[in-house]
Amino acid sequence: MAAKRILLIIGGGIAAYKSIELVRLLRKAGMTVRCVLTRAGEQFVTPLTLAALSENKVYTSLFDLKDEVEMGHIQLSREADLVVVAPATADLLAKMAAGIADDLATTLLLATDKPVLAAPAMNVRMWLHPATQRNVVTLRGDGVTVMEPDEGEMACGEYGPGRLPEPEAIKQAIDDALARAPAAVPLTGQPDFAPANHRPLYGRRLLVTAGPTHEPIDPVRYIANRSSGKQGFAIAAAAAEAGAEVLLVAGPVPLPTPPGVVRIDVETAVEMAAEVEAALPADAAIMVAAVADWRAADTRAKKIKKDGSGHVPPLALAENPDILAGLARSAKRPPLLIGFAAETNDVIDHAQAKLARKGCDWIVANDVSADPMGGETNRVHIVSKDGVDSWDRLPKQAVARKLMEKIADELDKCSPADSD
Ligand code: CTP
Repeated sequence: MAAKRILLIIGGGIAAYKSIELVRLLRKAGMTVRCVLTRAGEQFVTPLTLAALSENKVYTSLFDLKDEVEMGHIQLSREADLVVVAPATADLLAKMAAGIADDLATTLLLATDKPVLAAPAMNVRMWLHPATQRNVVTLRGDGVTVMEPDEGEMACGEYGPGRLPEPEAIKQAIDDALARAPAAVPLTGQPDFAPANHRPLYGRRLLVTAGPTHEPIDPVRYIANRSSGKQGFAIAAAAAEAGAEVLLVAGPVPLPTPPGVVRIDVETAVEMAAEVEAALPADAAIMVAAVADWRAADTRAKKIKKDGSGHVPPLALAENPDILAGLARSAKRPPLLIGFAAETNDVIDHAQAKLARKGCDWIVANDVSADPMGGETNRVHIVSKDGVDSWDRLPKQAVARKLMEKIADELDKCSPADSD
């Protein structure tokens, strides 16, 4: 198999130093790497370092006569299997979204006919700014894969999402993008990459529930569970990346809304049930929320006080609606209905029983015996009437992406999205 060719565009940001490690990982994996440095990128890493590591010429200027003669910028933009932008600064993302081509990097990005992967890195406020979020939605709509930045402490001392994903994670995203890249033969009359309408879930509407529910006892107390919402949010993000229209009904979790996702916040199971009902129809519903099974039978309007007698107030519970089972019985049942189940023992047996009891099509059974809720990975088994598909332990984002592929295949079986 021919070595995969990566055109790596390095923007200007403190995280640019991580691109050196990325080049090393790509070379180690046998890939060919050509680097392009923006003028700002040159402030953080030198062309000499990149040339030595990539064992290739490094390009910096649009108006370099010698480079143009050796390899024109159009050819440079096409002579790759994948164009990777890392770090993708707010400025680069904005120019890419607007189609501005005012230096070599942005000209290549506009001229390329190859898939593009961007790994953002910027200050948390810049990442969360509506302008950047708008640009990310635009780029994803254009078929660009925009990774989620990492969350953590930043060079500027602030905390939040905006850190460049680690080189290993970018390398994994590159492998995924190369695996997804279409065969060399272009579709008739179409460029040979995946614009919005060729992404696997384009034209589909997906409903996702995520997080816990909070069931109030009185104005200051509630019943809850340990769900972090991370897996559900990763699923909503992956669905949007795959081109779907995504509605996320979220219980109370402090997670940012994934780009391209419409989010409705709810607190209780009863509110979640109502929002799910209002969101229909959908092509698929993925019920990841850890809905509380019970709520307080009567919620007090005033805080319950100790009366000093040692008397413990009784807490009567009422059963919450089973949203998934209700959806399965509904006239508006989505063609593909997926439940989640966190189990500590007899995972498959419990999942099979739950599949029948809830009337859904798949149960994604999550083995939480080794890893409590709230972790970064999941080991899941997809249980359906056709059998059990067991996956290795994977990061939640990878579970989400793999699930989207399976969902896209399943929906295509029911009704092909388009025939071209
Ligand atoms: N679910 C739901 N409404 C509820 C409870 C659960 O929609 N009131 C959904 C969850 O979103 C999940 C699936 O049902 O997709 C399984 O949730 P789980 O809590 O495992 O199901 P339970 O019926 O509560 O089973 P268990 O007795 O194991 O808790």
